[in-house]
Amino acid sequence: MKVGIIGSGSMGSLYGGVLAEDGHEVWFIDVFKEHVDAVKTNGLIVNKDGSKRIIQNIRATTQAEEAGVVDLAIIFVKSTITDIAVEQNLAVFGPDTIVLTLQNGIGNIEKISQFVSEKQIIAGTSANGANFVQPGEINHAGWGGTTIGELDGSHSERIEKIASMLGTGELGPINISDNVMGLIWDKLLVNVGINPLTALMRLRNGQLLEQDETLHLMEQVVEEGVKVAEAKNIKLGFDDSVAHCKSVADATGANISSMLADALNGRKTEIDNINGAIVREGHALGIPTPVNEVITHLVKGMEHSKL
Ligand code: PAF
Repeated sequence: MKVGIIGSGSMGSLYGGVLAEDGHEVWFIDVFKEHVDAVKTNGLIVNKDGSKRIIQNIRATTQAEEAGVVDLAIIFVKSTITDIAVEQNLAVFGPDTIVLTLQNGIGNIEKISQFVSEKQIIAGTSANGANFVQPGEINHAGWGGTTIGELDGSHSERIEKIASMLGTGELGPINISDNVMGLIWDKLLVNVGINPLTALMRLRNGQLLEQDETLHLMEQVVEEGVKVAEAKNIKLGFDDSVAHCKSVADATGANISSMLADALNGRKTEIDNINGAIVREGHALGIPTPVNEVITHLVKGMEHSKL
């Protein structure tokens, strides 16, 4: 299959790299020229569990026109720029292109469907973890698998086909869900509880579990998020989302979360699509979300810190 990875940061590179290893024609499409050039020249270096491998057969470009229409486009840009990235890379989307979003946060499906028919979109979440080392090199840090689903919950032929592609040993187990919005909210609540706290306090995911104060904050932000999800009639996959968030923090204990990585690199974070989204949705429904509001403001303040 011809696959385009829109946003070839650490996670996009991981998924694209593994698909190329499995023999698919993979195109990395990214504005980060140094990374594109390094992958084109030397291949993609993937570090995992102390060993290093180089994936050579990846095509990479900054220009979507060079790649042309793909069979499967995986959107892996930050949720802050989903609409911009899709609009700038329209050349890869044909009428039959399947578009998969595995991004953090909510609102991505709506942004993609401004440019591509909603019928072409499938969604999911990844429990893999990856960090960027330098152009052309990533760490595969967590091995957690992928869950995908059709937006209407149907068990289509194409979802089976994409699942069999992604269900390779290297990316962990694959699951198909008939409740993709529940899935996205389950992941959202994990990000709500982990990402801003690790970014604000400069902690690895697992360190959040070591102090009563950080645990208490995690519980409060996730509990507020659960109330908003319930008011929206989202069918969450876990009876206890706080316990689930803690178990992910534990399983990815050594990870630098994506928001901490953004903070350390002086990049804009995804706070508006994570805790900020809980505040907005809560506000619309009359559900108070005071702790998420404070945390959102703190992260936004941090984004402007030049010290
Ligand atoms: O955004 C992230 O970093 C990841 O979604 C997660 C699960 C919090 C692991 O670091």
